[in-house]
Amino acid sequence: MSVVGIDLGNLQAIIAVARNRGIDVICNEVSNRATPNIVSFGPKQRYIGEAAKTQEISNAKNTIVSLKRLAGRTFDDPEVQEVEKNFIMAELADVNGQAGVKVNYLGEEQVFSNVQLIAMYLNKLKDITAAEINGPVSDCVITVPGWFTEVQRRAVLTASEIVGLNCLRLVNDLTAAALGYGITKTDLPEEKAKNVAFVDIGHSSYTCQIASFVKGQLTVRGQAFDTHFGGRDFDAVIVEKLAEEFKEKFKIDVYTNKKALLRLRVAAERCKKVLSANPQAPVNIESIMDDKDVSAMVNRTDFEEWATHLFTRTKDVLEKALESAGMAVEDIDSVEMVGGTTRIPAIKETISKFFGKSISTTLNQDEAVARGAALQCAMLSPVFKVREFRVNDVVTYPIKLTWEATPEEEETEIVVFDNNNSIPSTKILTFFRREPFTLQAVYAKPDTLPRGINPWIGQYNIKNVEPVNGEPAQVKVKVRLNIHGILSVESAYTVEEKMVEEETKNKDGEKETKTVKKLVKTGELPVSSGTTALPKKLVDEYVEKESQMYVSDKLIAETEAAKNSLEEYGYEMRDKIIGPLSEFIDPSEKDGFAKDLNAVVDWIYEDGYDEPKSVYVEKLDALKKIGTPVVERYREEQERPHAERSLRETLERLTQEAMSSNEKYSHIPAHEKQDIVERCERAGRWMDEQNAKQKKVPKHETPVLTTKDIKKEEEAVIFFANPILNKPKPAPKVEEPAATAETDTPMEDVKSDEKKEDMDID
Ligand SMILES: Nc1ncnc2c1ncn2[C@@H]1O[C@H](COP(=O)(O)OP(=O)(O)OP(=O)(O)O)[C@@H](O)[C@H]1O
Ligand SMILES: [Mg+2]
Repeated sequence: MSVVGIDLGNLQAIIAVARNRGIDVICNEVSNRATPNIVSFGPKQRYIGEAAKTQEISNAKNTIVSLKRLAGRTFDDPEVQEVEKNFIMAELADVNGQAGVKVNYLGEEQVFSNVQLIAMYLNKLKDITAAEINGPVSDCVITVPGWFTEVQRRAVLTASEIVGLNCLRLVNDLTAAALGYGITKTDLPEEKAKNVAFVDIGHSSYTCQIASFVKGQLTVRGQAFDTHFGGRDFDAVIVEKLAEEFKEKFKIDVYTNKKALLRLRVAAERCKKVLSANPQAPVNIESIMDDKDVSAMVNRTDFEEWATHLFTRTKDVLEKALESAGMAVEDIDSVEMVGGTTRIPAIKETISKFFGKSISTTLNQDEAVARGAALQCAMLSPVFKVREFRVNDVVTYPIKLTWEATPEEEETEIVVFDNNNSIPSTKILTFFRREPFTLQAVYAKPDTLPRGINPWIGQYNIKNVEPVNGEPAQVKVKVRLNIHGILSVESAYTVEEKMVEEETKNKDGEKETKTVKKLVKTGELPVSSGTTALPKKLVDEYVEKESQMYVSDKLIAETEAAKNSLEEYGYEMRDKIIGPLSEFIDPSEKDGFAKDLNAVVDWIYEDGYDEPKSVYVEKLDALKKIGTPVVERYREEQERPHAERSLRETLERLTQEAMSSNEKYSHIPAHEKQDIVERCERAGRWMDEQNAKQKKVPKHETPVLTTKDIKKEEEAVIFFANPILNKPKPAPKVEEPAATAETDTPMEDVKSDEKKEDMDID
């Protein structure tokens, strides 16, 4: 059973798995520890992750980045239209109301929703993991930003379901990091909590979470976000300034040319990273557009000035996080940073200055979130045993339920899960109703939500409600905010106050039966709900489509591999058959085979460029039918002398040992030693005879003597000789031991025993 943690970043994902009694971050197919969050569409296949990275510029309009920003968004969401449009070169499209893309795939225009795109990416991550752990992947924990709302969380969860991932928990990025931090700390206080501020600035957003630690548990105390503050915003600043500079200096406008803009973005990111460690960074782009090369030198001080509006905002999130935790700077005992953008020196400095302390480096900045997620998965998985550690995470946005007023009740709403209510959590609400009624769940403070997110969460119709004896029925509604932070009405039922008999104990400890008034459940009520979840039918369609695309990509990859094998074989054999292999092929076949090889190599580049896998496989098989015995004969010829040498050395060694006067063999009867000598002589003669026979066989014919035969003979001789040579010596006659030997030997024994025990303890 898999135990996997996925840090689903906007730029890249990191995967950690629990194995070998620890947590390992795993590498993808090109040995990188992070996999780009990109999906690209081509005329024959999709490219995902690393393969898509190379398409980013060359196939920009069919390549989608920043998938996470689209999660759960609608097409006309201002965030999508005003912000994400600037980062995604593919054409954005309305897909069943969801934000999606329109791309050219398999030679035709196709649309894919954000949920489908995220599913594609998760499927790739699943494949990477399966290859690494050498087994199927199902159970996992995926991280999302703490600021994700229900509809965004559902998008990621549905995407994981589409690709057969069993997401045990959608966990907030920094809660995962905090878990990893807490579970490994052995010095957490028993009583007075240690307060740690976790700061994550990644590719597109910024989060600060404050968590309190005591032995065995963590409690999230407060959090704050800036959803438009990350590496890509800093890149954009550099792009903007350099675009201006290039306009003036080189008379080009990169904004009029998509490729030029993309190349400048890549250069700007690189420049930004260089500036984190150097005072200056050069930018050079050859032939950016209109055949012009551009270059510039950026100083760190320039960069800091250009991005002043971002740098001055850095402390806002920290202030808000403290406020939400109800803490002051002095209450923070330690500050931990994660995310790539916290590498910018000015940011690090601002954070350190704000808290008045240096930044701790307990966590691996890039991998802490994924590691924490894998730990969380291990804790939730039945197959792993992890040290007890409680994680008390909290609601980010308060949720309220609303309903229509009734004559009996003026109240029309209640906040069911307030800020800092823990997750998961269940509440039971009581209503007095004469007829069916409807509850609406909404976020209570819409202005705190990410822009563009509809505050509506769901509608729940409580059915079959009727008066009881002319009075309103008492209805209990069980509302649950689950482990992913998703709301549901679990059940509704009626209760009535009834007289029931109850067994109690009196003050003398004797049992007695009393009649008491008690609320008793009298019936279940059906509940129908409407939420932001995608309709099941649509999800089923997505599952079907994804599996089709997956199979087709796999076939393409296999076809490509079959073609490459054929090409490689063709080229290699074409040269070898007139070179080292030339004597090993039947002269009558040689010319024909060489011709076939040449024909295949030419064919691959012409008519055979785009053939089904089976055609390549068949052609390779046909060539190998002739080629393999030739290679085999050549290999035999090469290896035969080695095998012969090894046999002769063995024969010599065994003969010498059998004939030696060494004390070691003095107990072996002479006739047995003689048997060994004779067995060796026989083997030597066998070798001579076989060699003579083989010499008569032309090189292009099947050899009569193989290395396997020689090795077999060698083993047979050893098998014969060893039991004789290794026969134990009879026990020596007991003689009066010398005084020194008596004391020395046991002491040595004791010494070596002691050593052994020590090592065992280690
Ligand atoms: N040395 C560096 N100096 C400045 N920025 C850096 C450095 N190294 C990486 N970055 C930036 O960090 C960002 C990526 O960070 P990270 O991997 O934490 O993001 P993510 O997890 O994919 O995104 P998010 O958390 O926003 O969803 C990129 O914008 C990258 O340019
Ligand atoms: Mg991140």
